[in-house]
Amino acid sequence: MLPEHLAVIMDGNGRWAKARGLSRSEGHRAGTETAKNLVTRCRELGIGHLTLYTFSKENWARPKDEIAQLFDLLTLFLKKELRSLQEQDIRLKVLGELSDFPFGVRQVVAHTINKTKNCRGMTLNLALNYSGRDELVRAFKNIAESGISFKDITDETISEHLYTSGQPDPDLIIRTSGEQRLSNYLLFQAAYSELYFTDVYWPDFDSAELDKALENFSSRQRRFGKTGDQI
Ligand code: IPE
Ligand code: IPE
Ligand code: MG
Repeated sequence: MLPEHLAVIMDGNGRWAKARGLSRSEGHRAGTETAKNLVTRCRELGIGHLTLYTFSKENWARPKDEIAQLFDLLTLFLKKELRSLQEQDIRLKVLGELSDFPFGVRQVVAHTINKTKNCRGMTLNLALNYSGRDELVRAFKNIAESGISFKDITDETISEHLYTSGQPDPDLIIRTSGEQRLSNYLLFQAAYSELYFTDVYWPDFDSAELDKALENFSSRQRRFGKTGDQI
């Protein structure tokens, strides 16, 4: 079984570069190539929703020049890939607060979202300036403002007010680079996600590594509280 929604924490670009005597920026460049290939592979496989952790709210704490380079890579990626996204029928969405980004970045993101809004083959969510806790705070504020009575609030109400509204929760979350934590990623949506950790650094996460992760996922029994015999 394939996940309907795959979410990825693309970690280890810096360590990948360091191990090769390269700059962190080379690591991010290589990581962008890996992300591009993953998008294509997931589309070919027929995965409906792919979410990539691209820039966390906490990543603002990084050196200014590294942040600037990450934005440059993102804008370049979106500009270069727009046609290919359209050809592959991939719709771009952003999870996160875009208003904090430089104007140029916001502009190209908005342009790509607009130009791909009718694509239905796959949804590519980029988590940008994303924080799972902030997403929940934002959802609660919007619910309060919408006038919904507190008595009517269900977990669906909350789901509908998240950035991922209308999309299924991730079935599988992959994190590369050996770290085993969620780093404030999709906290509400991850309630029943399967987690897969690999020591491979993100730039080395090729389609063979993806196949391994998907094979591992398909061998798992998801019980959702039931006993194994009930499945
Ligand atoms: C992931 O790689 C990319 C982003 C967080 C933007 P890192 O830059 O975190 O790489 P490490 O963890 O330092 O190796
Ligand atoms: C998580 O990676 C964020 C992204 C992949 C964009 P980090 O490298 O920033 O996470 P921590 O700080 O090590 O948890
Ligand atoms: Mg990291």
